Amino acid sequence: MPDLAWINGEIMPLAEARVNFLDHGYFYGYGVYEACKAFAGEIYALEEHMARLDRSLRALRITPRLGREEITRGMAELAARSGYGEAILYLQITRGVGMRGAARPEGAPVITMFVTELENVTAEAWNAGIAVITMPDERWAHPDIKSLNLLPNIMAKEKALEQGAQEAVFYNERGIVTEAASSNVFAVLAGDRIVTPPLDGRILEGVSRLLILRRARENGIRIEETYFTRAELAQAAEIFISSTGAEILPVTRLNGAAVGGGRAGPWTERLYDNFLQIKKKMGNNA
Ligand SMILES: Cc1ncc(COP(=O)(O)O)c(C=O)c1O
Repeated sequence: MPDLAWINGEIMPLAEARVNFLDHGYFYGYGVYEACKAFAGEIYALEEHMARLDRSLRALRITPRLGREEITRGMAELAARSGYGEAILYLQITRGVGMRGAARPEGAPVITMFVTELENVTAEAWNAGIAVITMPDERWAHPDIKSLNLLPNIMAKEKALEQGAQEAVFYNERGIVTEAASSNVFAVLAGDRIVTPPLDGRILEGVSRLLILRRARENGIRIEETYFTRAELAQAAEIFISSTGAEILPVTRLNGAAVGGGRAGPWTERLYDNFLQIKKKMGNNA
């Protein structure tokens, strides 16, 4: 009997199912799922699964084009068509298809499902039980790895957009500033101290950050890699973010309040000029 897939209403063999390369589920893990069980075509605890699905969808601001009824009809059809006595029905809804970097993809949410046969453990295997290990709960505590686990970053960006901002700057449980959702953070604190958080495993080592620090050193500008709090950030004379796409961008509003009079400050301008010289050099070498 075949494992079957359902993509936005169309049923096909699972082995032939394909999704779009630009799906934000694929880029960022931006989506939700439910794995349900079906006995002879009937879905177990359907209400409970659907209630949790609704909660997850709402939390991630995903509004599928199909309602609960149409989705469960699709699941039931898939279970019936498979003919499996006991089956696992996997349902996934992603935010949709759109260019990477767009916080809100233009495409509608993508609904996919597939059905496979449930394999029961033997009585012998059940009686033998399983082995486990203990470990610290580090889900997901590795922002230094440039991984695809970007859901918290995307959710932060979404919140920023909702509040009329373009980027979100994170602080940790002690109020220490770490980095932004898709960029590193620099600030000019009292006494003309230019600071950026250190590489301690809690931030991504941005290539732009690295180039800014290197260039500053070459030009005799001191930038401290040190911790600072969000309270200090709120008092900063200048703030800017850095990333490959944004290069150096002045932050002129923080939580609705003007930073440095609401304009790019002199240190930001100077470091940006220095940064642009790297590009000029590359242009001359080409
Ligand atoms: C979380 C985070 N921090 C920092 C950066 C900046 O890195 P880079 O300068 O290498 O683009 C990025 C870039 O995507 C990022 O996602």
